[in-house]
Amino acid sequence: MIGILLAAGRGTRMKSEDPKVLFPIGGAPMAAAPLRALGDICQKIVVVVGYQAERVEAELREVFASEFGSELAREKLHFVLQKEQRGTGDAVRVAMAELGSAKESSVVVLNGDLPLVRAGIVKKMVQELETRKLHSLCLSSLVMDPSGLGRIVRDARGVVERICEEADATADLKTIKEVNSGIYAFNMEFLKSGLAELRSENKQNEFYLTDLIGIARDKRRATDALVITGEDTEDLIGANSTWELARADQIDQARWKRALCESFGVLFVAADSSYVERSVRFTGAAKIGPGTFLGGRSEISRGVVIEGQARVLNSKLAEAAQIKWGSVITDSLVGARASVGPMAHLRPETELKEDVKVGNFVETKKTVMHRGSKASHLSYLGDAEVGEESNIGCGTITCNYDGVNKHKTLIGKRVFVGSDSQIVAPVKIADGAYVATGTTVTRDVPADALAIGRARMEVKEGYAKRLLGMKSKK
Ligand code: UD1
Ligand code: MG
Repeated sequence: MIGILLAAGRGTRMKSEDPKVLFPIGGAPMAAAPLRALGDICQKIVVVVGYQAERVEAELREVFASEFGSELAREKLHFVLQKEQRGTGDAVRVAMAELGSAKESSVVVLNGDLPLVRAGIVKKMVQELETRKLHSLCLSSLVMDPSGLGRIVRDARGVVERICEEADATADLKTIKEVNSGIYAFNMEFLKSGLAELRSENKQNEFYLTDLIGIARDKRRATDALVITGEDTEDLIGANSTWELARADQIDQARWKRALCESFGVLFVAADSSYVERSVRFTGAAKIGPGTFLGGRSEISRGVVIEGQARVLNSKLAEAAQIKWGSVITDSLVGARASVGPMAHLRPETELKEDVKVGNFVETKKTVMHRGSKASHLSYLGDAEVGEESNIGCGTITCNYDGVNKHKTLIGKRVFVGSDSQIVAPVKIADGAYVATGTTVTRDVPADALAIGRARMEVKEGYAKRLLGMKSKK
């Protein structure tokens, strides 16, 4: 099977400089869905690029390679340039020139703006084409609002005559509710001959791929439109505007979360309120509370509990990690049974080992906290390493930045850092040391030593009354 993906258009209705096919859905470009579907069933795929061709090629190559491996990407995937976007028919012509004398008998063509299409429905179409020995077949559906889409025109007996684009449709034809989806299968021979006959005498001065249906009919070649009904119609939804993309995204999220529930027993609370990118991996049942965003190359392990309103990006949460309400975790590792938040901020290169506790209003960056260590409240730990079982008191700050450079703080095992301490890096506090509350640590502290550095407190008996008396005389 040969597959052609049309991805050369800009997509002006998105009202953006970015190419439409790269607009994200579930964290991947929308053209990832048709590309994946073709990858599953085709030996060779030709992607037609044009608007911002290099960028589109680079991103789609990456998508394909991450799904099927870079070797298959090199073997199967070919990109061709459609210099001027003269219509979908012209785009297929450009792709066919690349194919030369391919031996395959069937060709699948998919629009690039089909963010919900899956291999199953494409396979079904090809089977239908081949068993019924059709020359062309497209998938259609009945919709409430057909505006903007090509209408399937049938004769009195219901036989497909042609597809009429909205721009060229009479008021009568515009009332047709059966629309073309942009998913086609062709017999190779017919496709070649039919493309040669396309003309651009229409309202948009474009070569429409959709004219092939009328051409097949004129040449008395068997052609049809397969009407898709039920849940499968979702696969046919195209995204021409950001609103259409948003609606498709909702469906995609529902599908993905359902798969996560069914495969791993992930438990969502208020499922619709959370967003899970498709790149996120789960290894078992986890509980995801309301309003959570999980994205990038994150891995969520069995037994993880995310209370809610969390943002986890490119991070790994090991078994039974507890992420309390409102925490933000980026490019970090959270160890087994570790507890984070509520409202903690783990910035890039944070590594919490097993049983670590990071509490509310704690910010970490480039910091390793070893097994069982704790920073329970209101701290900043940057460029630091905290040894096993050490305790970082409330309000402790590593002063890692001198205005020019960043410096490291090394804290050993079983160290106790009293509240409101400042640790001026570079500095090392060795195993078993004790830093008294309110100390500014500016020198290394040896093992088992006490570091105390604060003004001595004085108590003046009876002085409070005198002081207030002095003030009231003024
Ligand atoms: C197309 C169909 C319409 C169908 C609709 C379904 C045509 C003429 N019309 O219209 O019948 O109902 O899809 O969503 O095909 N592209 C190129 N080169 C071009 C023009 C487009 O590669 O010169 C690509 C685009 O990047 C896009 C796809 O082809 O991925 C479809 O183009 P688009 O402009 O979205 O067509 P529609 O107006 O949606
Ligand atoms: Mg479109």
